[in-house]
Amino acid sequence: MSDDPLLQPFQLKHLTLKNRVMSSSHEPAYSEDGMPKERYAAYHAEKARGGMALTMTAGTAIVSPDSPPAFGNLFAYSDDIVPWIQRLTDAVHEHDCACMIQISHLGRRTGWGQDDWLPVVGASSVREPAHRAYPKPAEPWDIRRIIGQYADAAERMQAGGMDGIEIEAYGHLFDQFLSPHTNHRDDEWGGSFANRLRFPLEVLRAIRARVGTDFVVGVRMALDEVLPDGVELPEGLAALQHYTNEGLVDFVNVVRGNIINDVELGKVIPIHGMAAAPHLDFAGLVREHTHLPVFHASKVDDVATARHAIREGKVDMIGMTRAHLADPHIVRKIQLGQEHTIRPCVGATYCLDRIYVGGEALCIHNAATGRELHMPHDISRTHNPRHMVVVGAGPGGLEAARVSAERGHRVTVLEAMPWAGGQLRLAARNPRRRDLMGIVEWRLAELDRLGVEVRYDTYADADLVRTLGADVVIVATGGLPQNPAVEAGGDLMSNAWDIIGGDVSPTGDVVLYDDDGNHTAMTTAELLVHQGVHLELVTPERTIGIEVGGMNMVPYNRALNDADARITLTRRVRRIERRSDGRLDVEIGSDHSPVRQTRVVDAVVGDHGTTANDELYHELVPRSTNLGELDHAAFVDGRPQTVRTNTDGEFQLFRIGDAVAGRNIHAAIYDALRLCHTL
Ligand SMILES: Cc1cc2nc3c(=O)[nH]c(=O)nc-3n(C[C@H](O)[C@H](O)[C@H](O)COP(=O)(O)O)c2cc1C
Ligand code: SF4
Repeated sequence: MSDDPLLQPFQLKHLTLKNRVMSSSHEPAYSEDGMPKERYAAYHAEKARGGMALTMTAGTAIVSPDSPPAFGNLFAYSDDIVPWIQRLTDAVHEHDCACMIQISHLGRRTGWGQDDWLPVVGASSVREPAHRAYPKPAEPWDIRRIIGQYADAAERMQAGGMDGIEIEAYGHLFDQFLSPHTNHRDDEWGGSFANRLRFPLEVLRAIRARVGTDFVVGVRMALDEVLPDGVELPEGLAALQHYTNEGLVDFVNVVRGNIINDVELGKVIPIHGMAAAPHLDFAGLVREHTHLPVFHASKVDDVATARHAIREGKVDMIGMTRAHLADPHIVRKIQLGQEHTIRPCVGATYCLDRIYVGGEALCIHNAATGRELHMPHDISRTHNPRHMVVVGAGPGGLEAARVSAERGHRVTVLEAMPWAGGQLRLAARNPRRRDLMGIVEWRLAELDRLGVEVRYDTYADADLVRTLGADVVIVATGGLPQNPAVEAGGDLMSNAWDIIGGDVSPTGDVVLYDDDGNHTAMTTAELLVHQGVHLELVTPERTIGIEVGGMNMVPYNRALNDADARITLTRRVRRIERRSDGRLDVEIGSDHSPVRQTRVVDAVVGDHGTTANDELYHELVPRSTNLGELDHAAFVDGRPQTVRTNTDGEFQLFRIGDAVAGRNIHAAIYDALRLCHTL
């Protein structure tokens, strides 16, 4: 047997967990009508197949209709869920993996304007900044009802074959009663510690009475809320002790912090550029004060840190949650001695941001995650190996090369620059976001392993491509930066790429005109203020970084706030003119009003996304068998491309990513995966 600490079994009551690696509860928003249907089950089954010991499903399966779903939550309050839970647990158990679920009442952490339009309840009427509802203080009949609903939901999960449940106790109703920050009541449910503890205790008692002593019940709780008027460690430990004394809980999943807004949420779930495993020692401290098994997850995204957490006795089970969104087969790869092939989680937190922005969690660089029903994590071999030429070594091109090589094709990559990465390399020039390079480095290592030839400093034209004798050509040449249109003086505007690339370094007063709303302009702003310029950020949108998710906006906002940058919303740069003193007059207008104002600045920088770098593609179209045509239905369904419109053609031709139209890293990688896994 292996002596790897991560691979040792762990006994949780009657339940043997086969190793120490788990995925903590997280709501990917894959529910359909509030039910965990085929997509949900396939997502968890893939992680189970990948070898983890325990997958915690849902994230906040809601126990009551007056806890409206804030981010695609499962309806644990409905009897209809039981057969779906049974299918989910069966799919996970098939791979000898334990399956639990988190249940909760969101309390104030949701909005009222959805589903049944029931008013939101809280311990008191204290608004959560993130979800913005003004909660009704729960009345005694609400409290009695909700306690019963928790027990009903627990029973449903038990009936569906779950190995256990976890109560969400950070930022939700359960702990909104415990925390003096949210509980301002003066009745028997508020005030003293004993009174604030009454609701959580009654919930746990009702659950235990319903599910019996053999069923695993845990609590995922903030033992220190890190709020001036919140629960601190001594009180957190005291609450836990009460839960333990009565045998109400079987494990504690440790959280430190609060989630009242994106800034605080980001400290509990850190993104790239932030410290790794920031609360691991705190989890270890809690473990010293309790006999309960301790679980924990917070930016433990690499195997070495996970191993350290177990070896040093910080925790009993280590959560690697986003790490498994990036690679669901981590444990299998450890067992096979293939740790070096694990696709890294680069902390981009596109996954979490997307549950609010796009309505489903997707990994920035694993396009199969959450799409297991039609996208493979393991690429199958082809019976018809061919020669693929991929032009461009950005994320899309590298993914196309990787997937094609896994299929068994001979692959040649042509890259004009002396290095790989494309636009992603530019994004990673923000020191805070340099982990993004993991997306490129992992693929380069895989190409090396798979024997793919990458030719750098090679500008591909139609003749070169032709001499290579390719059967398939995939153009992944990316995009070229473009500036927003102005009425006059466009030549006086630098582009965001010039700033990020370091080719232009303005000083003094600078207007950054962002008519794109994405990371490029935000990174430019961050770099500019760090270089000491006095910045005004002008955008026609009603918020800055309109395409960037909340968690990713936190560090950008911090940089802008620290520098006291001026933010000008719903406005456009109209004209730029050189003054006699060498400075620039910038006329600023708006879509909403004919009135214009003028600023005097030293430089203007613009961003309007990218335009496709498609010259080579159009050169190649007449020589291709499909005249560049993509069968969309086959592309979407994951079937082979069979279009043949030119019998004189020499090769199939496709283009992917920003070479088609400016999009993002995930889109480029998804284009590549779904095209190439059937070629
Ligand atoms: C898409 C997504 C949704 C999440 N939803 C929940 C949730 O509903 N309940 C919860 O307790 N944690 C939730 N989390 C937090 C995770 O359980 C975990 O604590 C967090 O991702 C940090 O661990 P990691 O660094 O291993 O990913 C969510 C995380 C992600 C990425
Ligand atoms: S999107 Fe980023 S943080 Fe989320 S799983 Fe993928 S690599 Fe990790």
